[in-house]
Amino acid sequence: MEKAVTNGAVLLHSIFILTLLLAVSMANARSFKGFEALATKTPDCFSVYGVIQGDTCFAVTQQFNITQPCFEGLNPNLNCSALFIGQWLCVAGSF
Ligand SMILES: *[C@@H]1O[C@H](CO)[C@@H](O)[C@H](O)[C@H]1NC(C)=O
Ligand SMILES: *[C@@H]1O[C@H](CO)[C@@H](O)[C@H](O)[C@H]1NC(C)=O
Repeated sequence: MEKAVTNGAVLLHSIFILTLLLAVSMANARSFKGFEALATKTPDCFSVYGVIQGDTCFAVTQQFNITQPCFEGLNPNLNCSALFIGQWLCVAGSF
């Protein structure tokens, strides 16, 4: 009986350690991802918008109330002279 209690405690302890390790490795994965995003300067996009006929970069920034520098940061390498219908633009996020 006493042995069973001890085994239970050891098991609980192991689970606790495992949980801790998992939490630490997840935190590491997250910070690595953050570092990678920083290194490659890939914006994190929270919201996208599909271009419709007649849209311009300016119209989209007005519609989503974002500044031009913000829009350019969210959409690196976007050519505003070559927008096409159905093109996905990032309209909210961080970069
Ligand atoms: C746009 O953003 C500005 C500054 O954040 C805010 O004052 C204004 O009310 C916003 N306009 C709309 C239509 O959301
Ligand atoms: C943007 O697109 C226009 C129209 O297709 C093209 O003439 C221009 O060279 C492009 N600019 C860049 C920087 O790719």
